Amino acid sequence: MPRPKIAGLAWLVAFLASVSTPLVAQDALPRDAGKLYALLCANCHGEKLEGGQGGSLLTGQWKHGDGGDEHLARIINQGVLEAGMPAFGAVLDAPRVRALSVFLRERMVRAQEEKTEYAKPAASDAVVRSRAANFRVETVAEGLGVPWSVAFLPGGDLLVAERAGKLRLIRDGQLRAEPVADTPAVWAQGQGGLLVVQAHPDYAQPGNGWIYLAYSEPSASGKEAFTAIVRGRIRQNSWTDQQVIFRADTASYVTGGVHFGIRLVFDQGYLYFGIGDRGRQTQAQELNLPNGKVHRLHDDGRVPADNPFVNTPGALPSIWSYGHRNPQGLAARPGTTGATLQIWETEHGPRGGDELNLVKRGANFGWPLITYGMNYNGTPVTADTAREGLEQPVIHWTPSIAVCGIDFYTGDRFPGWRGDLLVGALQQQELRRLVLEGDTVKEQEVLFRGIGRVRAVQTGPDGLVYLCLENPGRVARLVPVE
Ligand code: HEC
Repeated sequence: MPRPKIAGLAWLVAFLASVSTPLVAQDALPRDAGKLYALLCANCHGEKLEGGQGGSLLTGQWKHGDGGDEHLARIINQGVLEAGMPAFGAVLDAPRVRALSVFLRERMVRAQEEKTEYAKPAASDAVVRSRAANFRVETVAEGLGVPWSVAFLPGGDLLVAERAGKLRLIRDGQLRAEPVADTPAVWAQGQGGLLVVQAHPDYAQPGNGWIYLAYSEPSASGKEAFTAIVRGRIRQNSWTDQQVIFRADTASYVTGGVHFGIRLVFDQGYLYFGIGDRGRQTQAQELNLPNGKVHRLHDDGRVPADNPFVNTPGALPSIWSYGHRNPQGLAARPGTTGATLQIWETEHGPRGGDELNLVKRGANFGWPLITYGMNYNGTPVTADTAREGLEQPVIHWTPSIAVCGIDFYTGDRFPGWRGDLLVGALQQQELRRLVLEGDTVKEQEVLFRGIGRVRAVQTGPDGLVYLCLENPGRVARLVPVE
């Protein structure tokens, strides 16, 4: 029988693996999961995982397990020797095994998706038929850059935050050409810029009128940036009465355009918000730094005396939970408030490992000590997906969908969605509906896919579901149809 055609090192590695002799130094092997696959697996399973001497890895059908983490790690480590699948445990360390299984899952999910038809409502009159409601996607305003969020004002006015730095008003379906004047300067680079606009829940009460803005604030030199929050009022299309609600220590302002996090949740006079790790992974674990955390303040910026780390020496007293990578979705569960308040949070994983978390006071959500993903370049972050004392996500998406804004549906126009969590995704350009049962996700439905990156999803006071979409930048809403 001809020997399978396996290139030099790969053959050696596969042979050594099959006799379980740890002779090949770890360092001789690439850390990139795609390269590892090409080197060690492609000869038997095909360049595109389509199968060969070993079966296809794309079908989702398995002989020795369910395709989950435990199963894939077991097969890679121990092989199926009697059937000709070598054991790689002696030559691959745990982080590489972990990265390989993320890689396999990525390819498998993509292959499944390519075969699946999803509603793609191209024209605004196309009706999307989903499980619990039929709807169409109606454009509210177009000609926007990257809209990051909208604020609902009494009387039907909408404010839109454009990431490039403009705050703009939509009145009677018309986008006002001149942005609101005198809003703060933002650092519009990479993922940074003007991110959140949101009205205080008591906006309409006499003396309130507060609008909150969250954005990437440039340092004095303009070379670095960090997330900041201010509130102010709008008079004659100008920003006035500004007060700083959150601003980090100048040492936290760093270069790099990633992971500013931010969404705001108000509850009983408190303000919750998430800040990303700013690309400094390990700092998410450091309690003296503001990045990689969810924070809680009074809505005027004071630190509440009962925050979890107020008495921890050196810790920032505004921290509510930590170990977050880049939280860009935050929402309070309807019917919960005060002591019962449930804040649900989505955060971007690296490559794989996007998370849905139920935020807990004082808890550590584990980044970067644990994650279900790997680095973008295919190298492992860690072998661990769980560790004692670190919180697990409610669910994770591996491969990533690039989770962004979330909101619970609370209106009355889509009765079949009430209490469900709507989840927008950038990379997958999709909107998902998650049906919860207790604190778990019972069901996920992709409502549509492919109409642009979904930055924000927000239930409007009119009960319609508002979306901030990219390429082309527009605000749209879901309108029910029979
Ligand atoms: C020498 C050939 C060979 C190489 C190299 C090889 N495999 Fe396999 N693999 C097989 C065969 C044959 C099977 C089918 C085993 C069976 O039928 O039980 C298999 C099965 C599998 C399965 C499916 C297990 C199941 O439960 O159905 C996975 C996953 C897998 N291989 C992953 C890998 C990965 C990852 C690599 C590279 C690190 C790799 N294989 C390298 C031959 C190979």
